[in-house]
Amino acid sequence: MSSTFDIDSVLSQLTLDEKIALVAGIDFWHTAPIPRLNIPSLRFSDGPNGVRGTRFFNSVPSACFPCGTALASTFDTELLNEAGQLMGQEAKFKSAHVLLGPTMNIQRGPLGGRGFESFSEDPYLTGKAATGIVTGIESQGVASTPKHFVCNDLEHERNSSDSTLTERALREIYLEPFRILLHDVDAKALMTSYNKVNGVHASQNEKLLKGVLRDEWNWDGTTMSDWFGTFNSYESLKNGLDIEMPGPSVFRTVGEVGHMVKTKELHVKHLDERVKSVLKLIKFAKDSGIPENGPESTDNNTPETRALLRKLAQDSIVLLKNDDDFLPLKKEATKSVAVIGPNAKIPAYCGGGSASLRAYYTTTPFDSISEKLSTPPKYTVGAYAHKYLPGLGQQVINPKTGKSGYSMKFYNEPSTASKRTLIDEYDEIDGSSFHLVDYYNDKVIDGLYYIDFLSEFTPTETAIYEFGLTVVGSAQLFVDGKLVVDNKTKQTKGDSFFNCGTIEERGQIELTKGKTYTITVEFGSAPTYTLGNSGAEYFGGGINLGLAKVIDPEQEILNAVELAKSVDTVILSIGLNQEWESESYDRPHMRLEGYQNKLIEAVLAANPNTVIVNQSGTPVEFPWLDKAKALIHCWFGGNEAGNGIADVLFGDAVPSGKLSLTFPVKNEDNPTFLNFRTERGRVLYGEDIFVGYRYYEKLGREVAFPFGYGLSYTKFAIDDLKVDIDEKEENVKVSVVVKNTGSVEGAEVVQVYTGKEETDVIRPVKELKGFEKVKLQPGESKKVELVLPVKYSVSFFDEYANEWSVQSGDYKVYVGNSSDNTPLTDTFTVQKEYFWTGI
Ligand code: BGC
Repeated sequence: MSSTFDIDSVLSQLTLDEKIALVAGIDFWHTAPIPRLNIPSLRFSDGPNGVRGTRFFNSVPSACFPCGTALASTFDTELLNEAGQLMGQEAKFKSAHVLLGPTMNIQRGPLGGRGFESFSEDPYLTGKAATGIVTGIESQGVASTPKHFVCNDLEHERNSSDSTLTERALREIYLEPFRILLHDVDAKALMTSYNKVNGVHASQNEKLLKGVLRDEWNWDGTTMSDWFGTFNSYESLKNGLDIEMPGPSVFRTVGEVGHMVKTKELHVKHLDERVKSVLKLIKFAKDSGIPENGPESTDNNTPETRALLRKLAQDSIVLLKNDDDFLPLKKEATKSVAVIGPNAKIPAYCGGGSASLRAYYTTTPFDSISEKLSTPPKYTVGAYAHKYLPGLGQQVINPKTGKSGYSMKFYNEPSTASKRTLIDEYDEIDGSSFHLVDYYNDKVIDGLYYIDFLSEFTPTETAIYEFGLTVVGSAQLFVDGKLVVDNKTKQTKGDSFFNCGTIEERGQIELTKGKTYTITVEFGSAPTYTLGNSGAEYFGGGINLGLAKVIDPEQEILNAVELAKSVDTVILSIGLNQEWESESYDRPHMRLEGYQNKLIEAVLAANPNTVIVNQSGTPVEFPWLDKAKALIHCWFGGNEAGNGIADVLFGDAVPSGKLSLTFPVKNEDNPTFLNFRTERGRVLYGEDIFVGYRYYEKLGREVAFPFGYGLSYTKFAIDDLKVDIDEKEENVKVSVVVKNTGSVEGAEVVQVYTGKEETDVIRPVKELKGFEKVKLQPGESKKVELVLPVKYSVSFFDEYANEWSVQSGDYKVYVGNSSDNTPLTDTFTVQKEYFWTGI
């Protein structure tokens, strides 16, 4: 239903102050309302793997989807459309008008901290995955906000980093996913990136915001800055940044912008253009019927939601190795099973940073595997792999409720004060990481408050235990009144809390089995932080509480070996988690953390009947690969991560995922090895257009697993390639016949790549230009026909002409089921040579 909200008429009635109010947020997640003109406050919510709602702290739980690399690995645009619809519904249950996602940056290399959030190293797959998700989200009347436009492909110094790249790489690799998306669907909003692009911050970049988005692509949606990613008033307003986020505004105050307009420093027409764009988004939101400042609920946690999340988790899993058809494991015939490894009992369900959310529920590999077996599997941890000690909240009891978690009391004064004013209280919180940026309380004065945490811990073993505190603010932890961790009197800067926090301060204490200890933590909010102003944007502050038994790593491996020897089958659950892969920092190396590789080698030697289950959002090195029989890669799979893994292991789901990223053998092999970080303010995209498989193929470099690769429990034959270009040279028709030659139902992804061998410019060997997933019963065949638009399937960006170029001549078509396996080839010829711009 379209509202009677007339944008031009509303614009003409706004005062200057009201116009200025509309081009910035009022708080972390809302825009300014203007009730007299019926303008509601819009609610924005993160994205991209679910909808967190309006609070980091004590958020209302929500559905957690598999991470971006996992979603793209389904290679299934229809399924992604369904996922997008569910995201849109989730947004409605959180009364959010605008969902901050999907993330569509490019994994130039394997180490990007936010690589897990984006879809793929390939621009075509990224663009088509985003099209599926955005179409789904917006079908629900919720605006999507594809992000981050553009070249936010690393975290290191992300606010000031200058992504320095050729025009050709910018067009062919980094803008291309956005071009594909906006060609296919009219996304309502876009978020600009933090970084500079060739010298100019994206949020004030005239060439990108006006030149590319508006003039070339004719896009008329609304742009917003990333959070604290607006860097000035004048250029950002003049060049096309519609909304500064979050509020209260730093650069768009009535004082500053009002003065600029009144003194004719900034023409009011520029402000009007921005306001008009914001009003468009407001009109869309009004039409959706989502209430203003509406409630947030968990009512969408239904069997249907869970079923779709489970399907997504299953379909994203990639079977990398399966010698002797070791998998699927047989539930009945599998006599004794051990589940070993650091990821077995932790829910590695999403990556860290703004993508993380409090899930409705989580499933761990251990629990989900246990549900498949009549006798519970045996377990030992084998090795630790955490960066921060595992969450305290899940291990302690709130004495007031008898449930896991703590009692939290908020005061205006510290514990040393003779009189304290209690201003807030929580008893139902069991988390362990508290971001207080969006905690609002009228009774707080100047952001200063204190939280007392109270809980009890009863160890199941007599041992030395280690507690940890990581903060923006200050904190001390006491066990039965004895100070064990001090992150107050001496603080050290780390990369926690979006790079604003300390390192984890730890302290050890010996505790006795069965005895109950009182654990208290005294936290002071951001103003008590001794590390200066580095956390200025992190108002409120944050605290992370951890606890683990101290282990002897070598002895743990020996324990794992003993256990592995005593069973028929070992499931080794390894990988990374949201502490290693997170917004704000990149990974320093590509190895598994801690003693994991040693553990894997030892377990494989002890019992070759081992399947390795890896969870990570981006590639890790597998130095023991030759020795492993079976390996599945499971990303961060959302709420249903554990169930998806167990379903695939036991054949209740047949794997059909294909890698959305190349897995290089080692970090040194990757195209960005020399150029990944920011050096003195700039990051050089030295690999140019040769990102991912485009690089490995051009160099003939061996990889661990190629882009597009993934096995199944059945087999497929792809034959009968036919390639035809139409007379007008607009489309190339590519058809093949796919047959399931195995014995179970499964799905195969037909991948179509194009390449040009004879050309006067350097080009990749081939590039993905089409794909389709086909589901087939045993023995069944299907004809798959793809229509590739010539213009989008053969062009390169000609920097001299500053236009896309379609060169005449022969083009090769490669068809297969991974970038490395394209046995079917044919050619077509383009007679007409031409240049083009636009979308
Ligand atoms: C992230 C964005 C996110 C925003 C709001 C930023 O740190 O880069 O992707 O949407 O925070 O949480």
